[in-house]
Amino acid sequence: MMELRFDMQYEDAYREVYELVKPKYRLFTAGPVACFPEVLAIMSVQMFSHRSAEAKEVHVDTLNRLKAFLETENGEVILFPSSGTGFMEAAVRNTVPRGGKVLVTTIGAFGDRFAEVVETNGREPIILRKEPGYAVKPEELDDALRKNPDVHAVTITYNETSTGVLNPLPELAKVVHEHDKLLFVDAVSAMGGADIKFDEWGIDLVFASSQKAFGVPPGLAVAAVSERVFEIAEKMPERGWYFDLPLYKKFNEKKKGTPSTPPLPQIFGLNVVLRIVEKMGGKEAWLRMYRKRSETIREGVRDMGLSVLAEPGYESPTITAVVVPEGMKGVDVYNAMRERGFELAKGYGSVAEKTFRIGNMGYMTFEDIEDMLANLREVIADLKKRA
Ligand SMILES: Cc1ncc(COP(=O)(O)O)c(C=O)c1O
Repeated sequence: MMELRFDMQYEDAYREVYELVKPKYRLFTAGPVACFPEVLAIMSVQMFSHRSAEAKEVHVDTLNRLKAFLETENGEVILFPSSGTGFMEAAVRNTVPRGGKVLVTTIGAFGDRFAEVVETNGREPIILRKEPGYAVKPEELDDALRKNPDVHAVTITYNETSTGVLNPLPELAKVVHEHDKLLFVDAVSAMGGADIKFDEWGIDLVFASSQKAFGVPPGLAVAAVSERVFEIAEKMPERGWYFDLPLYKKFNEKKKGTPSTPPLPQIFGLNVVLRIVEKMGGKEAWLRMYRKRSETIREGVRDMGLSVLAEPGYESPTITAVVVPEGMKGVDVYNAMRERGFELAKGYGSVAEKTFRIGNMGYMTFEDIEDMLANLREVIADLKKRA
């Protein structure tokens, strides 16, 4: 048997993996995105028990900061040891009985995912679908709800990452209330980059992933959940254990933690970001920065003669899907930009071939954006010559 040896140069293990994953590109991705160095630094502290007083203090502080960020006093903030999709599953299993109907609005690939989650959990999705690039309009939602009065809930993708479209959430939320349905909001690529007023807009469940607009590595999902959801969930049979929402609420209150072991480094990283937001001028200033980043990108690509997939007035503040000219493929732009040291995002879903995407989430400067646009201009000109 081999003896364990501590005199070996085992730090080579780090170097070997570092060679595989070391940063090579400036990131304009759809997520995971680049993180503030302060976030990465806090995530490398030595681990300790998630039931320790220190972990409890960070847990409660993170919940309080998120409550302020999401503008909720009534909502319960929940941290899941999963990616964002976990909350799709949780929303459905905790509130909709087996065989029950859910109105799933879909404006792209992630709306389609919500429909799959509903279906694979034995519930029935009723689909309201829009063409890629378009948002759901309040009258369309009203019409769908009139035709389907027996749905338990409505799902809305706040920001469709595949098309770069921001749905008009406050207006859609009003319609959902008029029909007295539960409202589930996928804010995976919106939260942290687009405003969310949980109480005022009357949301029942809104969730996001750490690796998007907060700029934290993947592995943590964040949500705010209404009292109404807990009341329904308490009576819902077979809602499972791992995503049992009332259990998470109980642990928030009694244990100041999560039922199972959470990704502590991501929680520390998120806490740092929420403090950075405050130190950079607060939520409004932070969201303005996001709007400005995305406007700069849209103006830049339009100035090159390219068009943005999103219909005017519904453009995302976190990601732009750009339509490539005839004879060009989105992936060609993506590959050419990689050669120049910029990682954009490939097209995704049904528009994969004819688009590429430019994310503006996480850690980046306006100089990075200008550099990226200058390179993109050359790449497009070059590809046009070859087309
Ligand atoms: C809008 C949207 N919803 C859901 C997801 C899935 O999130 P996750 O991969 O964190 O489960 C994504 C991921 O890109 C997304 O952009």
